[in-house]
Parts: sequence; structure tokens; C-alpha cells
Amino acid sequence: MNQGDISRRAPVVSLGLFADAHYAEMVYGDRHCKESPAKLAACIDTFEQGELDFVVCMGDIIDKSEDHDVELGYLVRMREIFAGFSGPRHFVIGNHDVATLTKDEFLRECGATHPAYYSFDVGNVHFAVLDGNCHRDGNDFSAGNFAWDDAWVSAAQLEWLAQDLAESCDRKSIVFCHENLDHRLWNGELDPHILRNADQVRGVLETAGNVRAVIQAHYHPGLQTTMNGIDYLGLRAMVVGAGLENNSFAIVSVHADGRLVLRGFEQQPNVELQLREDG
Ligand SMILES: [Fe+2]
Ligand SMILES: [Fe+2]
Repeated sequence: MNQGDISRRAPVVSLGLFADAHYAEMVYGDRHCKESPAKLAACIDTFEQGELDFVVCMGDIIDKSEDHDVELGYLVRMREIFAGFSGPRHFVIGNHDVATLTKDEFLRECGATHPAYYSFDVGNVHFAVLDGNCHRDGNDFSAGNFAWDDAWVSAAQLEWLAQDLAESCDRKSIVFCHENLDHRLWNGELDPHILRNADQVRGVLETAGNVRAVIQAHYHPGLQTTMNGIDYLGLRAMVVGAGLENNSFAIVSVHADGRLVLRGFEQQPNVELQLREDG
């Protein structure tokens, strides 16, 4: 079989992604929060028609209400729409998800059976989900006690991550994190969308040697960059703009020849990357 035949083979793994739906019954700035249930329904319809191994909600599925029960209602509505996807569903926690709720409350109400950070394997690819919603001292953002521009990965989580990646050193790994792990400046300072200890996290990813891509959300325009052999892909936010033409979500396929193909829907641009092969 020649290289062309290998490239055309079915992907090793296919997954659906959506980010920053921010559902609440309001509109502010460019955030059309109240349209997110309709946008998510269209997204899940598309995912359900594809042959996807799993779908990841990349965080900030809800926005804030002053009332705890109203906010819980926002989450229940979005969870029910997301449940229209019949395969495995994963939740990356975003800062807005814990604006009123605790992490445990959020995950329980989502019906998630996984903790805030964890890992899993599909089709010989390793996936690690990070939780960037911690204070500098490692304590959780919880029920409104959070600062979106002062977010950290805890020391305990960094230790877990190094161990987890070492145990999966024979597999390509992809990392999910709502907050950003790449490096860029804003007004001469570290962009506040980036975790304050992102350099430490990148150090763990680079030392592990098997991490090929980081998928992130939180920075609503989205982005793509490469640092030290690791590709960083930021998804565009679902909440930005009115109408289904301003929806945004993606299907990612990872192929045996190392190609990562992101097919973007509506405002999400397409991306094709060749993941690094060597260790
Ligand atoms: Fe967001
Ligand atoms: Fe966010």
C-alpha cells in the first residue's frame, strides 16, 4: 500500500467539539447567549449524523444568572440538548460554568461520570482533559469565587499530568483545556486568557514528548499557533453573533498518517495540520 492509500483510509478517531455557548436569557456585547440552545441543537444534529467516537463540550456552556436555580435551569436545558448525541460526552470545565455552581454541582448536573481532570484513550490516541479553573494556591474556582484572568492549573494536577502522559508515552496525545496554554502578549503583558502558569504546563507537555496538539476555548475569536512541536488550536465561540449563520463548531479527525483535520462549521475555520511523528 502506498502513502496515498494510507492517507485516504478512515480516520483513527473522529470527535465533535463545541465551545463557549454561554447560554443565558440575555444578549450582551457580541454574545447572543439566548440563541445558544438553537445553535447547540443544530450542532448536535450534525454530530449525530456523523460517525463520531465522542463529543467534547469545551467549557462555558452557560453564562451567569443572579439566581442559582435559574442558572441551574440553563445548564439542564443545554445538557438535555447535548444528550441528543448518543455517543460518549465529555465536559471540559470553563470559568463561567462555576460562576454560580461548584465544580461538583456542575459535573453532577451535566450527568458527567468523570472528575474535573482525567484522561481516556480512543483508537490508540490518548486524550487528557485539564481543569484550568484554580486559584494560585490550587484551590478550586467555585460558586462565583473565581477570576477569569487569574486562572491556574494546580500543582497536584501538574503532577498527575506528568504521570499520566508518562504512562501513555507509546501513544500520540491530545490535551483539552478551556483556558489557553499557548504564549502571547496583550498590552505588553501575558494575555489574560492564558493560564498564569501556562509555561509550567507547557514544560510538562514538552517533556512528555508524546503530546501533539492542545485544543482550547475561552478566547472567543479562536486561534492557531505552534510552539516547540505542539500545535495549539483555539476554537471560535458558539455564542458570538446572531442567527444560525453565526454558529460555530467542529469535527476533528485524526488519521494514521498523522494528519489532524478540523472541519469547521459556519464561522469556525477549517484547519489541517500534520502532527509531529517523532518522539
Ligand atoms: Fe467564554
Ligand atoms: Fe471562558
